[in-house]
Amino acid sequence: MEQQCDCLTENLTEQDAYNTLHKVIVDYDRQPGNLIQILHMAQAIFGYLPEPVQRFICTEMNLSVSEVSGVVSFYSYFTTQPRGRHTIQVCLGTACYVRGGKKVLEGIKEALKIDVGETTEDRRFSLEVKRCIGACGLAPAVMIDGTVHKRVNPNKLQDMLNQYK
Ligand code: FES
Repeated sequence: MEQQCDCLTENLTEQDAYNTLHKVIVDYDRQPGNLIQILHMAQAIFGYLPEPVQRFICTEMNLSVSEVSGVVSFYSYFTTQPRGRHTIQVCLGTACYVRGGKKVLEGIKEALKIDVGETTEDRRFSLEVKRCIGACGLAPAVMIDGTVHKRVNPNKLQDMLNQYK
């Protein structure tokens, strides 16, 4: 379950966030072998991994920009874009696809005016696609923040979205 958690970021100023990341890097002995764990922590602290954060890690660990950005772009769970408060995962596995999953996805894209992989301007929602979320018998299914919405009606998407502020 990929759920967005802002608990580490909530009350941090930007300087606090960089100080915390500095401590993390020191705790991990600035070892290149610990880069993935450090990136995980950086994403937990900042919510995402924008270029300035990646550059900070490069400098602190004495790594090249391409070494860090290569790891960030390789793993899909790292994101360089800010995330929304809620993560919508539309299932496009076979069962959902044949039972209207595509229409659900198009409806959500239209309602939120974003594409897959994007976040709404107000940072309310991020949109992703999944290949089965284990509710095939109740397709089409959509998961929002870990809650599965079953037999989603493409004509009633706004009701579903309105539950998330
Ligand atoms: S294919 Fe959508 S839940 Fe399994």
